[in-house]
Formats: sequence, C-alpha cells, structure tokens
Amino acid sequence: MKALPIDGERLQRQIDELAAISAAPAPVVTRVLFSEADLRARDYVKNLCRETGLTLREDAVGNIFARWAGKHPHLAPIATGSHIDAIPNAGRYDGVVGVLGAIEAMRALQQSGFKPERPIELIIFTAEEPTRFGIGCLGSRLLAGSLPLEKAASLRDPDGKSLEELRSQAGFGGQDLREVRLTPKSYAAFVELHIEQGALLEKENLPIGVVEKIAAPSTLRVQLTGVGGHAGAMLMPERHDALLAGAEIALAVEQAVLTSGSPDTVGTTGVFRIEPGAVNSVPCRAWLEIDLRDTLVATRDAALKRVENSVAEICGKRGVTFTVERLNVDAPAICDSSLVETVIASCGELGLPVKRMVSRAYHDSLFMAQICPTTMIFIPCRGGVSHRPDEYSSPEQIKNGVAVLAMALARLAV
Ligand code: GLV
Ligand code: MN
Ligand code: MN
Repeated sequence: MKALPIDGERLQRQIDELAAISAAPAPVVTRVLFSEADLRARDYVKNLCRETGLTLREDAVGNIFARWAGKHPHLAPIATGSHIDAIPNAGRYDGVVGVLGAIEAMRALQQSGFKPERPIELIIFTAEEPTRFGIGCLGSRLLAGSLPLEKAASLRDPDGKSLEELRSQAGFGGQDLREVRLTPKSYAAFVELHIEQGALLEKENLPIGVVEKIAAPSTLRVQLTGVGGHAGAMLMPERHDALLAGAEIALAVEQAVLTSGSPDTVGTTGVFRIEPGAVNSVPCRAWLEIDLRDTLVATRDAALKRVENSVAEICGKRGVTFTVERLNVDAPAICDSSLVETVIASCGELGLPVKRMVSRAYHDSLFMAQICPTTMIFIPCRGGVSHRPDEYSSPEQIKNGVAVLAMALARLAV
C-alpha cells in the first residue's frame, strides 16, 4: 500500500481541542463519566465522526459506535477505539490517541482511495476509568456481558447516585441496559491504539509495541466504621479511629505486594476518604479503594486474600467494623496471535521496529478480547508517565501509531 496521507497537524490540533474540554484548568484534564466535560467531549468527537462520514449509534450505557460501512455492510466489522473519559488530574493522551487516532486513520484510508470490504467501526467506550463507580471499563464490560445487570444496577457514585439515574440524565435513559451486550461474532477483530503508560519503548528507543497479554486487575472497596468524637476530650484509649485503621490497611497493601514473590505485583490505595473530615473531630468513617494487579492471576489472587485478611485483623485490633467488597476481580487477556502478526507485518511495511509487550495497565481491550480476536498497538510516552497532566507523546510518535493502525485496519478489512 502506498504511504497514507496522515495529517499529524490536524490530529495534534484535535488532541489539543479535546484537552481543553476539561473540568479543571489546563494542563490538567479531568473528564469524569457523564460530567458536563464528558458530555461535551462526546459531542466534540461525534462531530468529527460525522465529518468523516461515519454512521453513529449509541447504546444504553453511552458507548458510541461510528461505522464506515464498507462494500459489504452485512459482514462483521473490524473494530478499533478507546476512551475519552479521564481520571481527575489526568493528561491529554490516555485513551484519546486511540479515538482521535482512529478517526485520522480512517480519514487517511478514505483519502488514499481505499475501500474496505467489511465495515470498520470506531468504538468510544463509556467510562474506561473507574473514577465514578469504582469499576473500570464499564462500557466494554457490559458489551462483553462481563458485568451482571444486577451489579450494574447496584452501582453508586460517591454521592449515592445510581448508574440508572446518571445515564438517564445523560440522555440514555430510554434504552434498555440489557441491549448493550453484543451478540457473539459482532466483530471480526478489535485493535486498540494507546500510549504505553510505561517506559519500555522509550528506554529501548522503539516506536511501536504490540500487546500480547493484558495484566489481571482487581479492585477492593473497604468501608470502615469507627467511633467519632471530640479531638480534645476523647482520650486515646477510648478511640476507634477509622482513619488510623485505613492507614494501617494501606500499609498492609504495600506489604502484601512487596512480599508476593513477584516484581509484577502492584498495589495502590488510590481512594481514601474520611468523615466527618474536621480537624477537631476523630474520624468515624473511612472509605478506601484498593487496586491490585499482576500478570499472573494466582499471584494477584494471593495478594488479594492477604489484604482481605489484614483488613479483618487490623479492624479487630482497633475495634472498627468493616465491609470489604470485591468490585472487580478480572482475568488477564491473551491477545490473538494472528492479529499480533498482522500488526507486526504492518510495522514491517512501514519500516517501523516493533516490540512484543505485556500491558500492565488495563484497557477496554481486556473485555473486547472476551468477544473477538483482540490486540493493541502501543506508542511511547515520555518517561512512561501517565495519569498525570505532564503525560506526553510527540506528534511523530502518535503519527507512527496511527500509520500502523491504519495499515492494520486495511489488512484486516478485506
Ligand atoms: C487504566 O486506566 C488503568 O488504570 O490501567
Ligand atoms: Mn487511564
Ligand atoms: Mn486508557
């Protein structure tokens, strides 16, 4: 195939425009599910899809599908895509590169005169990030049938708002959540373009990674109820401080992963809220969300069990009552070997060296892999930094990723 007319400048401009749609001032990007910024960002991207001649559909949870019909619209499409929601204090590339990059890849293919035999479909997944409900990949989990509907119905955000309430407010209330699940063979393949969110490609000075496996994530929510009281009058032996129990639990998480026997085990207490949150009041309640991952599921599960045991032990000792909820305990994904080879062949055609990789971050690909052959294309990001405002990939690095994606889509859509 001749060189594709990928317009790196246009893509960079769109990345910057999308970054400006944020609940926080630049350079911070914050776009939490169904917030005003998320809804505006969806409109921005849907407009680009329309300008590219793609046909739009949205499902009951707000997943957006933008289709280039191809010569045989009845054939199962090749899908690509990622997410545009962003955790608080994020940067501008996580997820976005895979969405805007896919639109640019499709435009370049169109301009080159390429006509796909089967449809090519962009999916913009709802809430890849767990910020609102504590559970990541909400849209793709539901597409894959990996989240029971009763569990989806029981999801509440920190203000007590339910998924039902929030999706209705966002304009998706008239649709039935049961219809989100895709039928088997809905897609022939899925390829997600994403920044690496690690530093291996940069260290080895390589432009492209192809993902063979995605690590197994899990999340625990721990709620602690102690006894509140006056910070001056309540003597230390009388206390059942929920924050102190939570602090010990966070340290126990660190110990559980440091002693797992695997350098790949990671654990993070990323949410720690207390009530009432007044300097002269003993904390009576605490709420923690703990993220535990490994590439090996058995090692991750052993660490999970140790953390749960520690919660019981610490709370028993401190006279604090607790609940522990496993929000998600996911299996790793193994990517499709023939798709991996397609990406490698596309890199070869473009003269770009490529590294086979494991994704330590999770992605919607984790769930797409449950319903169709899946892989991911990684591009380097500076210092491996992600989930921070200084996240950065250069226009050249992004353009390389888009070129590989476009080439792979063209090879697959036949
Ligand atoms: C995705 O954002 C992750 O936390 O891996
Ligand atoms: Mn992310
Ligand atoms: Mn992401």
